Amino acid sequence: MKRTMDNLIPIPSFEVRADTALPFDLFVRLPVTNRVILYRRHGSTLEQEKFDHASARKFNFLVSKLEYEKYLGYMTREFLNLISKKEKEPEKVRAAVRLVLASPFAQDSLGEARELVDNMGDLITRLVSDLASEGFVSRQTLFLKFAKLARTGTDFQRHPLHVASLTLMLALGIGISDQRTLVEAGLASLLHDIGLTQLPMSVIAEAHKYRELGTVSRALLKLHPQGSLDILRNKGIVVSRLMESMILQHHEEYGGTGYPAGLVGESVHPMAQVMHVADDLDDLLSEADGGESIEVRLRALFARYEKENTIAPVLRQRLERLLF
Ligand SMILES: [Fe+2]
Ligand SMILES: [Fe+2]
Repeated sequence: MKRTMDNLIPIPSFEVRADTALPFDLFVRLPVTNRVILYRRHGSTLEQEKFDHASARKFNFLVSKLEYEKYLGYMTREFLNLISKKEKEPEKVRAAVRLVLASPFAQDSLGEARELVDNMGDLITRLVSDLASEGFVSRQTLFLKFAKLARTGTDFQRHPLHVASLTLMLALGIGISDQRTLVEAGLASLLHDIGLTQLPMSVIAEAHKYRELGTVSRALLKLHPQGSLDILRNKGIVVSRLMESMILQHHEEYGGTGYPAGLVGESVHPMAQVMHVADDLDDLLSEADGGESIEVRLRALFARYEKENTIAPVLRQRLERLLF
């Protein structure tokens, strides 16, 4: 068992169509027994009735390490196809996003959930690198550079890549398919917290626990969105209007209780709100909290959003439908 798992990589759920051959062997880990079986052999198709569970949210798919790149290529082509057909079939994009996005949050184990989000980062990185990026190649190159740095880093350093993955998946799921917007939103996510590096270590460690902090730490934390922008400008990185709004406003709240400016309502950019949710989602997976399941904590997060008016109600409901 151990030896098998060492050669396999868990991947988020996706739609396995009966009539479409996959370019890789697909394995599945069975519930209860945890036994891993070959589910669909490379190149073969199946009759519909044989895989009625295929789109189940809790389906634990795996691929061999040797075929991981093939899997990433397959999923990227699927997504690029869906994006380019979006006008005709927004429902299909939403359904595809929902399977990938909901997988980590349906796990019982935080470790497995985190591994799935890491692997979502590989998928998003491949997707960004395969976008036809006429006119914004430099943004794309920067994304790939920072994504690679994050992927090979510590848990803390992987946070921005998790946020980028979750932001882009959520954005795709609510119908955003403009390629420049996606690359810029991804880059803003990768760089959103870079201003934290100017703060004392004790404050950095608590950066996502603003509500629980004292006055001094709060005052320091309020500086980091502008700090992130300042660092980027000092490094000569061109920051677009979208990136600026997302980075400056990622802790603002629709009801006006966020920071640093306390913006209210529609003045908080919708993509900053999406990134705010992605930031909270990664934080939710970063530590166990009172032994409650991931799903229970996810529901509590959205209940809090509703109660405290953190996210615009219509947007909140659309994002929520992608996660459950
Ligand atoms: Fe932040
Ligand atoms: Fe963050």
